[in-house]
Amino acid sequence: MLFGCRLPARLTGVRELMMNFKPRLRYVLGRSAPSVVSIDVSGACNLRCRMCSLESSNPRVGMMGLTSLSRLSRQLEGIPVIELSSGCEPTLNPDLEEMLAILRRDHPEAFLNLTTNATRISERFVQALVDHRVDKLLLSLDAAEPGLYESIRQGARFEDVMANLRRLAEGIHRSGSPVPELEVICTLMTLNADQIKPLIDLLAPFGIRSLIMNGLVPFSAESAPWKMWSLDGEHAPIPEPTLEAARYAEAAGVRLLFADFAATPVHRCWDCNPVISWDGDVSPCFMCSFDRTVFLDGRRLRFPRVVLGNVNRRPLPGIWKSVPAVRFRATRALGLLPDYCRSCAMQMGVLCPYRTLGI
Ligand SMILES: C[S@@+](CC[C@H](N)C(=O)[O-])C[C@H]1O[C@@H](n2cnc3c(N)ncnc32)[C@H](O)[C@@H]1O
Ligand code: SF4
Ligand code: SF4
Repeated sequence: MLFGCRLPARLTGVRELMMNFKPRLRYVLGRSAPSVVSIDVSGACNLRCRMCSLESSNPRVGMMGLTSLSRLSRQLEGIPVIELSSGCEPTLNPDLEEMLAILRRDHPEAFLNLTTNATRISERFVQALVDHRVDKLLLSLDAAEPGLYESIRQGARFEDVMANLRRLAEGIHRSGSPVPELEVICTLMTLNADQIKPLIDLLAPFGIRSLIMNGLVPFSAESAPWKMWSLDGEHAPIPEPTLEAARYAEAAGVRLLFADFAATPVHRCWDCNPVISWDGDVSPCFMCSFDRTVFLDGRRLRFPRVVLGNVNRRPLPGIWKSVPAVRFRATRALGLLPDYCRSCAMQMGVLCPYRTLGI
């Protein structure tokens, strides 16, 4: 309700906007910086995970160079959170350690985090994480059972990943550094729904006490039946084994977080974070950083790649304030969403953010 009248669903964004009017208006107009920027320093991957869209959506494979990263880094003033990476595998970039050094030198107070498939973790990389105070390392691990893990994360060897986790945990421990915090992220699917407890047990010896179970975005017809969340919010009971695993985590002192199990078709995407690809193109959000297809409810939905500018030609603050960027944010802030946004897993809450089940 807004001023006593019930708003049609399409205009719920107006109510959202009114609730926090000034800061949101500043954000929409590009007068305040984005709270998070994701940088794909690599435009490639060494794996072919069964649920991932990368192979089908990425015709432009390449690597960001050190000069480009240094230039970009100078454009990130005032950004509180800098993430590497969004949709590819950052550890493939041969200059990654130097890039972390540059980002930390230029942004001593920023929260730096990095997401990786954990297949390429050398001593040198661990040292760089500690030296440059990377705050958080998100490790993607979709099963504790080796055969299942290797069938999902095609191209990875479970044994190698375990050796990498050991190297990482021991290296951080030896350094005495409080960071990076290690967190594991798992894409929850029917394929691995029974893996929550085994993952908790597997991770304990590494001192990893934080596990995120994210929702699956069905990027292929094959993966469509694997999603565990429901489009019909009224009828989405959380499966009992999941609740049981949540109780197990609580008893074991593990922070277990989930995206929602029921899609909420309300407008909530007014502050999505820009993604910068390896070649400097700026996209307004993760979903629109590649041409993606999503298979939902028997429908095939196309999410177009949206590019607002390129940081090699115009600095990020200028792109952020440009007419296409303001138009993009304004239409979403008003709830005037394109059709693809209405079926976006992020907007429906089933892909990030995460919360405990509160049991
Ligand atoms: C695209 S990857 C990029 C970073 C790195 N390559 C990795 O695997 O961690 C980022 C995260 O997206 C997750 N992911 C991949 N496919 C997904 C899907 N269909 N739905 C939800 N998350 C997915 C991965 O498991 C990973 O945690
Ligand atoms: S490792 Fe990451 S980017 Fe690569 S295929 Fe798997 S989920 Fe996708
Ligand atoms: S709702 Fe639209 S703008 Fe927001 S993340 Fe999804 S696709 Fe991007």
